[in-house]
Amino acid sequence: TWTMGNVIEEQVAAIRELVGDKRAICGLSGGVDSAVAAALVQKAIGSQLTCVYVDHGLMRKGETEQVEKDFVAATGVQLKVVNAEERFLTALKGVTDPEEKRKIIGREFIRVFEQAQAEIVADEGPAVEFLVQGTLYPDVVESGGGTGTANIKSHHNVGGLPEDLEFKLIEPLRQLFKDEVRMIGQELGLPEEIVHRQPFPGPGLGIRIVGEVTKERLDLLREADAIAREELTAAGLDRDIWQCPVVLLADVRSVGVQGDGRTYGHPIVLRPVSSEDAMTADWSRLPYDVLARISTRITNEVREVNRVVLDVTSKPPGTIEWE
Ligand code: XMP
Repeated sequence: TWTMGNVIEEQVAAIRELVGDKRAICGLSGGVDSAVAAALVQKAIGSQLTCVYVDHGLMRKGETEQVEKDFVAATGVQLKVVNAEERFLTALKGVTDPEEKRKIIGREFIRVFEQAQAEIVADEGPAVEFLVQGTLYPDVVESGGGTGTANIKSHHNVGGLPEDLEFKLIEPLRQLFKDEVRMIGQELGLPEEIVHRQPFPGPGLGIRIVGEVTKERLDLLREADAIAREELTAAGLDRDIWQCPVVLLADVRSVGVQGDGRTYGHPIVLRPVSSEDAMTADWSRLPYDVLARISTRITNEVREVNRVVLDVTSKPPGTIEWE
């Protein structure tokens, strides 16, 4: 029978046989797919696998630590972390156009990743012949049926790799759907926060700041986002919604009042959505008391934010993200 335990055993045996005494590398994004793919390969070949995590400084609060500490603790994987926050912030300086931001983040990501990759390849030790990717069945179908195994999509993931790589691909999740991948992750003992993480765009908070991306704005948005996530989790709503982008309108200010003083701060937008596949979405009817708690906490705890607004637009015509 087809159980997740069997899938793991089968994949582990196949990967061992395939890799032999060579080495493999894997990029981690913080998302569930790359984490589960890496954990599976780690189970098969142990220290012959090296993972790379590029910290672009655009992650949400606690997410980098989840990868650096909890994921490593759970899997024992060899991890190379590249702290590239400065580099990304410098490249994003003065940029406000959403597509421009995406291009810059994607470009810098690939450069940093390739550099890390080159360093690993240059290490002493067996040849690095394989690259692990967390491709799922829906990705295979979407990209045209999966004829060649080395069919790397150029679209959406910032973890997407350039075409001229000479690695052979290992894609242990190619026959699986998301819920099965989560089950495997659970079976492999991965942290709950990673296994049940909601979709998060590769360009991260960089496309959730409407306006220029700066360190101060990122810190502010990280605080607001952490509060929203905390309250949604506390209310038991994580599995009911698809995702809830929290967006900072960095170039907008509105007048408010706090204590006996006038404020002139930024609005935060909550964008909770329900969806099956992110192609279409509806705005989630969150309970008013949860919304009230999020709003009160954000305006009390995050300086510079004096207003919280709710996005009640479906997709289409709105997209899920604001940029
Ligand atoms: P939109 O905003 O197009 O988003 O309705 C649909 C889904 O895709 C995610 N998203 C991205 N994911 N890189 C990604 O890896 C991106 O550039 C990107 N843009 C949007 C979004 O979070 C939603 O789940």
